[in-house]
Amino acid sequence: MPSVPYGWYAVLRSAELRPGRVVSLHYFGRALIAFRGADGRPAVRDAHCPHYGAHLGAGGKVVDGTVECPFHGWRFGADGRCVEAPFAVRTPKVAIGGFPVREHSGLVFVHTGPGEPSWEVPDIPETGSRDFTEPIDDTCRARIHIQEMRENIVDESHFHFIHGQSEPPVQDLRTDGPFAEVRGRIRRRVFGWDIDNTFDAFMYGPGVMVVRAHGPVLSVTAVALTTPVDDRTSEMRMLYYVRKPSRLPLLAPALKLVFRAEALNEVREEVRIWDHKIHQARPVLLPHEKGIRALRRWYAQFYPAPAPAPHEGAESPLRS
Ligand code: FES
Ligand SMILES: [Fe+2]
Repeated sequence: MPSVPYGWYAVLRSAELRPGRVVSLHYFGRALIAFRGADGRPAVRDAHCPHYGAHLGAGGKVVDGTVECPFHGWRFGADGRCVEAPFAVRTPKVAIGGFPVREHSGLVFVHTGPGEPSWEVPDIPETGSRDFTEPIDDTCRARIHIQEMRENIVDESHFHFIHGQSEPPVQDLRTDGPFAEVRGRIRRRVFGWDIDNTFDAFMYGPGVMVVRAHGPVLSVTAVALTTPVDDRTSEMRMLYYVRKPSRLPLLAPALKLVFRAEALNEVREEVRIWDHKIHQARPVLLPHEKGIRALRRWYAQFYPAPAPAPHEGAESPLRS
């Protein structure tokens, strides 16, 4: 599988990109920088200067909404174009590569793929709602393709072993172009009680998923951001927004602590498995594990179409 499926990826939380700062990033096997242009909108572009190769994030600064290279002072606008080259008679017509960028839901998203994006990640209302706590923000990296991180949500059997579920949950995957939804139930034992939770997972392309879990004790919205780092490593950033209990809002910090202890351990267990697992192109799936196959069919749309075989449709010269 190509390591960078086409789609939107969140590369930063908005608060991490303060005006006037250049932030260095590394995703998609590329050294990148992010900064805010004159209008405050974020730009995410390649990090290396076309003039002589300096890294714009290593000492570069933002001047009048452009990024200025630390080596010889060339400046590049938010669209990547060189707008100034000191001592040059004519400003060179060069640009640094970059991505279409959107900012909403407290996140900075970039789009990978050819041409202009044909769909958008919708707003995630919980991220700006007072009914939810500030998120628990947990980032981990694993030696795995991002598609496998996503397959996790439809891997019904792992809910028993990793998430303490008594039986595999019942799930239903529905797809609509680059969007997909999975609805499931999970029953788990907490302090000797069986607690039933439902969850609805909304997928927006290959890199963004919002999981809304509801139970009698706790409701949580998890924003799962999976982004390729390079062709071996993927990042999963989880932002968990815990709903404040309406009658006892002061209980929210305690709920957050309990949830944090539970959820983050389970993610660590998964990362340990991911770091060592291989991709089985033809896994031996049990009848109830059809979700993995369905998810793979949906996810295939984010890869470039395979090139036709060289002699497809043509008479083979070897055939007589
Ligand atoms: S290397 Fe960037 S201006 Fe020379
Ligand atoms: Fe899981």
